[in-house]
Amino acid sequence: MISAGIVTVSYIAATILFILALGGLSSQETARRGNWYGITGMTIALLATIFGVVTQNYTTLMVALLIGGSIGIVLARRIQMTQMPELVASLHSLVGLAAVTVGFANFMHPGVHLEGVELTIHGIETYLGVLIGAITFSGSIIAFGKLSGRIGGKPLMLPMRHWLNLALLLGAIWFGREFVLQSAAGGGMDALIIMTVIALLFGIHMVMAIGGAGMPVVVSMLNSYSGWAAAATGFMLGNDLLIVTGALVGSSGAILSYIMCRAMNRKFIAVIAGGFGTGGGTLVADSAELQGEVVPISAVDVAALLKDAKEVMIIPGYGMAVARAQHTVNEITKVLRAKKINVRFGIHPVAGRMPGHMNVLLAEARVPYDIVFEMDEINDDFPDVDVSVVIGANDIVNPSALDEPNSPIAGMPVLECWKGKSTIVLKRSMATGYAGVQNPLFFKENTQMLFGDAKETLDEVLKAL
Ligand code: TAP
Repeated sequence: MISAGIVTVSYIAATILFILALGGLSSQETARRGNWYGITGMTIALLATIFGVVTQNYTTLMVALLIGGSIGIVLARRIQMTQMPELVASLHSLVGLAAVTVGFANFMHPGVHLEGVELTIHGIETYLGVLIGAITFSGSIIAFGKLSGRIGGKPLMLPMRHWLNLALLLGAIWFGREFVLQSAAGGGMDALIIMTVIALLFGIHMVMAIGGAGMPVVVSMLNSYSGWAAAATGFMLGNDLLIVTGALVGSSGAILSYIMCRAMNRKFIAVIAGGFGTGGGTLVADSAELQGEVVPISAVDVAALLKDAKEVMIIPGYGMAVARAQHTVNEITKVLRAKKINVRFGIHPVAGRMPGHMNVLLAEARVPYDIVFEMDEINDDFPDVDVSVVIGANDIVNPSALDEPNSPIAGMPVLECWKGKSTIVLKRSMATGYAGVQNPLFFKENTQMLFGDAKETLDEVLKAL
């Protein structure tokens, strides 16, 4: 056992390291360092908790750590970059589940004897921890299903769904009140169970009602909820570090949700109310609304176009992740830059399936950071671009977001590549993207389509270059 003083100092050190980690993760150059701060902070936090806070049941703790740690290592080794968004969603669900189980365990065996106001406050802490935890748990499971394609992207629009949400919310508050009152008199288990079931249903219904295009907000919102669930657990257990860490995750997730909403030009409440963006992956070839001709191009011709260009803009999207084409993209970039062609990358804030998805892939392939730009930094430059290469992106380059007020993605800022001299779109078919919206870009006069798996077609382009 280590003394309480050392535990406090360790917790303060861990808190500072977590704040430095968040600061480091805010830019690609410092992200690796940020990760190390986080790892070190978490190691200190774990050691201080194991040797300074835990006083019994060491065997159970070690077995749990061994099982959890092994699952973590296997997952981290096996998971493909394309599965990262689902992994993140499933990890959020575990935080929610932990908050629920800790809440129940703490309620059944409080450890300390509390009375009066303290007991009421503890009841409220338990109620909040279980409530937020249960919503995070079931919501994240549905988000996992939607991100992995196991559940369709189409929003579930139940009749009177807003009233249903309100009824569930009021039910959760009512049973929460019952729980706090009854727990003061030694009862409350029934109310806690009913409240948990209501919160689980609320989480399922909330995420099921969100359409494909609203998912970026859901991902970051659940991130935020998982933080608040952890903070509530910290209050329940009287653990300062958990409170601070939870608050850091909760608030940074909330800021991320705000950034995602701004990226989609949507109000947070409008997204959560559901229905933004319909299904995903439908074929639009026979649509009467889209007119014009689709002009295919060969990999050899794409190489020739690129060789003649002075300004090239690469726009990666989810399909680049699916095809795992980022390394070939980097090779092509190197060849073009060696020919004194100015190559830049334009990154949409919601490209891919998780915040920063494209940045992570490009960093993995060692694309230099100084040629990777955010949408706002380069969107005005397209008139000077000779060739835009759209790699497995769709919704983020859809002009109907700007021209069609009735489009489900109307108002979302997009990368306006059609304003450049020519655009090459790499994808396998004419299928829609995640939001299930048709894309007039493919029919524009200065657009040509390179059909096929992005890795295969880019390998051919590289060979021809
Ligand atoms: P999408 O609109 O989903 O389009 C991706 C395109 O990639 C598809 O049209 C698909 O067309 C193509 N593709 C798939 N596999 C491919 C392969 N192996 N080779 C070549 N192309 C391939 O992606 P985006 O433009 O990146 O937009 C992101 C969308 O996801 C937005 O609607 C966003 O709201 C949503 N979303 C984002 C997030 C976050 S946080 N970023 C989270 C959840 C949802 P084919 O099938 O024809 O090949």
